[in-house]
Amino acid sequence: MSQIELRPGLADVPVAESAVSFIDGKRARLEYRGIAVETLARESCFEETTWLLLKGDLPTQKQLADFDDQLRHHRRIKFRLRDLIKCLPESGHPMYALQASVAAMGMFYPARDVTNEKSNWESTVRLIAKLPTVCAAFQRLRYGDEPITPRDDLDHAANFYWMLFEKEPSPAIRKVIDACLVLHAEHTMNASTFSGRVTGSTLANPYTVISAAIGTLTGPLHGGANEEVLDMLEEIGNIQNAKPWIDDAVAKKKKIMGFGHRVYKVKDPRATVLQDLAEHVFAETGRPKLYDLAVEVERIMTDILGPKGIYPNVDFYSGIIYQALGIPRDLFTPIFAIARVAGWLAHWLEQLVNNRIFRPEQIYVGKTNQAYVPLSKRP
Ligand code: CMC
Repeated sequence: MSQIELRPGLADVPVAESAVSFIDGKRARLEYRGIAVETLARESCFEETTWLLLKGDLPTQKQLADFDDQLRHHRRIKFRLRDLIKCLPESGHPMYALQASVAAMGMFYPARDVTNEKSNWESTVRLIAKLPTVCAAFQRLRYGDEPITPRDDLDHAANFYWMLFEKEPSPAIRKVIDACLVLHAEHTMNASTFSGRVTGSTLANPYTVISAAIGTLTGPLHGGANEEVLDMLEEIGNIQNAKPWIDDAVAKKKKIMGFGHRVYKVKDPRATVLQDLAEHVFAETGRPKLYDLAVEVERIMTDILGPKGIYPNVDFYSGIIYQALGIPRDLFTPIFAIARVAGWLAHWLEQLVNNRIFRPEQIYVGKTNQAYVPLSKRP
């Protein structure tokens, strides 16, 4: 048998050709369909960016208006789905509730024929439109409150805030939420996207594809890091403790949450935009002490691990923003999913165009040719 080389974590192994997004990890460059993410965060909105990711080009005014109408139309969820969410344990993580609800949506909507472009588009719109509603419904129901009905007169970001707090966001806060959704919407062949593409390659229905991707996003090495960053900052406690805490963690070879990236060897461009956005949020909410501590942690980490190419990633500042907005910590990763569903679906549609089921190789290191010893003869 020819010797095949194992690349742990598939590092540097291409698994697909993709035209959805592009990263230059040395120049801190992230583009969606060729457009810099910083430009989209500033000039575009989540709905338009989602169309761009799904279709490949910016929409015309009419296309965007129609797409926006479709999203608003599909925000509501079936009462049976709401009842299902009501039955989930309130102590469970909202990511598990989101994953379970999305998997269950596959039982409510006909989507098994993935060769049907019309049905694929309907599923795409439904998933993008309903994820915020499911997330907000679980947040309300777990405290014994009725879910807040989505409002058709609000855009995607403002409506999500409305469903969480039953109040409209200020224009500045709406813009910050919208920009956070844009920044998290897509990121090349990351673990959850790959997971979605693997599931999609079996021609599974899109709800199953997205629930697989959501499950993969839960892990602390991926989307779950944004929650852990705040736990870590709270554990560090104050600026004086930052240096000894980090020295100790580095000496013990602990991973510092919110730092490091497989592709970026400089500061993640999304972290830079998020920091800028944070200043806008704090102008309204007040500047949290945790933010000053985070800036100090970044400074110390840059001295110690910068030479190794370890800098803040997107998760380092996002949680501080969400916390300042009053969003509970365990909703940070679901918000990541509400945004990333756009990228997952763009990759799913791309996968289907030239699909071949993923079936990689393994390097077998187990025993061979073993005798079967009957149970009665075993000690
Ligand atoms: N803190 C300390 N050391 C680190 C860190 C970190 N956050 N990240 C990487 N390293 C070190 C690591 O110990 C290893 O050192 P050595 O070569 O001496 O053994 C080297 O850098 C390479 O690390 P790796 O874990 O092999 O790198 P990877 O490309 O497999 O992992 C990563 C990338 C993002 C999983 C990793 O950097 C990490 O665990 N970071 C912390 C978790 C985190 O913030 N995740 C969010 C990622 S961005 C958003 C998302 O994808 O959801």
